[in-house]
Amino acid sequence: MITTMELLDALRWRYATKRFDPSKKVQQDDLRALLEAVNLSASSFGLQHYRIVVVEDPETKQALRAASYDQAQLTESSHVLVLAAKTDMTPAYVDDYMQRMADTRGLPVDQVQGFGEYIKGTLTDKSTDFIIAWNKRQAYTGLGTLLAAAAELRIDSCPMEGFQPEEYDRILGLTERGLTATVIAPIGYRAAEDATQTHKKVRLPLDEMVITV
Ligand SMILES: Cc1cc2nc3c(=O)[nH]c(=O)nc-3n(C[C@H](O)[C@H](O)[C@H](O)COP(=O)(O)O)c2cc1C
Repeated sequence: MITTMELLDALRWRYATKRFDPSKKVQQDDLRALLEAVNLSASSFGLQHYRIVVVEDPETKQALRAASYDQAQLTESSHVLVLAAKTDMTPAYVDDYMQRMADTRGLPVDQVQGFGEYIKGTLTDKSTDFIIAWNKRQAYTGLGTLLAAAAELRIDSCPMEGFQPEEYDRILGLTERGLTATVIAPIGYRAAEDATQTHKKVRLPLDEMVITV
């Protein structure tokens, strides 16, 4: 169990890393812990509206860099994690979720079917654009968890939206999987020469950030 101070120390230590040390790799057990952390994130109805794509292959990272305004994090980081939102939310997907819930909790599926029907009912009048926007918002909950978990493990990261999603979808074959790249986080270890690490964090005073009603 980490203390409140340890959590805040980790979040103060974190910064959006511009230059990673390419010689340092995130170990498999740490990577797995980060992926588990994202998988444990909250999502609307628990539908887990996105997937995590792990990119380690140097050539693929190079191609992604070209589709990311040549940002160095793409090739210098250890791994690039791409949070990719689903491009639909079908009744069959909801049914699979209900089956998993029944199996996980040892319940007959008809005991959870009411919840499934309720979810499907809320989706019937929604446009594809609405569904994709909804799914993308959920991916950001995963991003928040990922950044905090990485900081806790003293793994550097950079949340990034500065990339061309259509190019990512093509390079990573996401379209055929019913996914679209939403936000990414290269992870690894900061390079000594990354000057950004010395910059003081610019944040509002808490009494401006927080509105107590
Ligand atoms: C959704 C999102 C997208 C971002 N996109 C980029 C990006 O494309 N490139 C980059 O270098 N930083 C990017 N950033 C990092 C922000 O600039 C950075 O988080 C912000 O300046 C605050 O600094 P800090 O994270 O170091 O505290 C992004 C951050 C977020 C949350």
